[in-house]
Amino acid sequence: MIVSTENMLIDAKNRGYAVPAFNIHNLETIQVVLEAAKELKSPVILAATPSTVKYAEPEYLVAIGNAASKKYNIPIALHLDHFRQVDLIKKYIDIGFSSAMIDASHEEFEENINKTKEIVKFAHKKGVTVEAELGKLGGKEDNVIVSEKDSMFTNPKDAVEFVKRTNIDSLAVAIGTAHGLYKTEPKLDFERLENINSIVDIPLVLHGASGVPNDSIRKSIKLGICKVNIATELKIPFSDGVKKYFIDNPRANDPRKYMLPGKAAMKEIVMEKIKLCGSNGKAL
Ligand code: 13P
Repeated sequence: MIVSTENMLIDAKNRGYAVPAFNIHNLETIQVVLEAAKELKSPVILAATPSTVKYAEPEYLVAIGNAASKKYNIPIALHLDHFRQVDLIKKYIDIGFSSAMIDASHEEFEENINKTKEIVKFAHKKGVTVEAELGKLGGKEDNVIVSEKDSMFTNPKDAVEFVKRTNIDSLAVAIGTAHGLYKTEPKLDFERLENINSIVDIPLVLHGASGVPNDSIRKSIKLGICKVNIATELKIPFSDGVKKYFIDNPRANDPRKYMLPGKAAMKEIVMEKIKLCGSNGKAL
């Protein structure tokens, strides 16, 4: 069975590493992530955004997740990433997702608390863990675009109140990362992260990890990040691998062949990121 993120993230916090959450889109990308995680004995989170769930369909994703957890002897969580609609989160939890992010970070503080509390109440009864976000990340994720001027860093005092009142399991913080690729090297606000980590006792989550220098990822893990979200940096090698295959084989038409170079290129990055997070060898 797929598991919630509870034990994974607590172990990560206790032992000073992070569990990578890889955004997946279909059977092939799930296979890549799980083969890499299995080889490196890493716990892993398969993250699906609203448009991925719409595209791949929740029942298929849950069935693949459950089949995979029997095949691979590692902890696997199936996570709803950046969901804004309370009713959809409840529906997909009932179908079998084991972890959920309610992203009401665009709402006013009180409304963010109210929506998050409603999901926590529902999810915890079913053994499902909940992540929420405070502050606002810039960039584009799924169909949501937040401009640089509308992005907002997490306020540490608000974070304490938010965690206490919502009873969430993990908190996504805005400390200078953005979704998608960066125009210039991102400068993370480590002081803010350290401050939040010293007063909030649940695992912290870093979104928008694609394009963040390795040293910054390592440093943020040292300062309390227990889950690192990666999407764009996987999509690029996968599609580049497939594109190259078609350039070399313009008459190709067999998905079992043209998908392979994409999968191989993506797997290399997944393995790199697992090692970067330090989750290799941590499958309990
Ligand atoms: P990137 O696309 O920047 O890796 O962001 C992924 C993410 O945060 C998914 O929630």
